[in-house]
Amino acid sequence: MWRDLKQDVERILLTEEQIKERVAQLAARIDEDYHNAEGKLVLLCILKGSVVFMADLMKAMRLPVDIDFMKVSSYGTGTRSSGSVQILLDLHRTDLADCNIIIVEDIIDSGRTLSHLSDYLKLKGVRSVRTCTLLDKPERREVIFTPDYIGFTIPDEFVVGYGLDYNEAYRELPFVGVLRPSVYAKELVEERDEK
Ligand code: IMP
Ligand code: MG
Repeated sequence: MWRDLKQDVERILLTEEQIKERVAQLAARIDEDYHNAEGKLVLLCILKGSVVFMADLMKAMRLPVDIDFMKVSSYGTGTRSSGSVQILLDLHRTDLADCNIIIVEDIIDSGRTLSHLSDYLKLKGVRSVRTCTLLDKPERREVIFTPDYIGFTIPDEFVVGYGLDYNEAYRELPFVGVLRPSVYAKELVEERDEK
């Protein structure tokens, strides 16, 4: 049953302390930006990867918030994105016109998930929408999208931990680390063979 997940991590990219410090800065920025805003502030967690980040962010904030959840699938399995965004769990609120929503994401890669979700929420008639991501991989962008709040800009490497997974594993690691390529070597071979 016991397995040391850390041994699958090639190197730690962001330590617990670095993340904590940055989350506190983001929380302070959001508090400042919204303290005079009319309407409700809603932190919208995109399941499952953003659970850890959002829990820490809301605890570090001083403004009162509502929380809500949506689930989308854009990544398919493993390290490859499927390209299309599908809503698996929707937002069911009757007060959307009163809501200032901040979409909380773990990472932006192609940009498809956040660009699709922001457009979707605007069409639903929310009062305002902004986006907050812990990690940004700008090199991988396929659609033009700039989040409002970014924790860290990182290079194009597959990372896990602090909520982020590889095939549902590693989410519980308290830091963000680069996964050893040997862990997904089989997938890389399949990818090469498909080309
Ligand atoms: P996008 O729609 O391509 O921007 O994809 C964003 C989603 O892809 C994130 O919410 C993650 O679920 C997933 N993702 C992208 N890069 C990574 C990574 O390095 N590790 C884990 N998940 C990732
Ligand atoms: Mg995700």
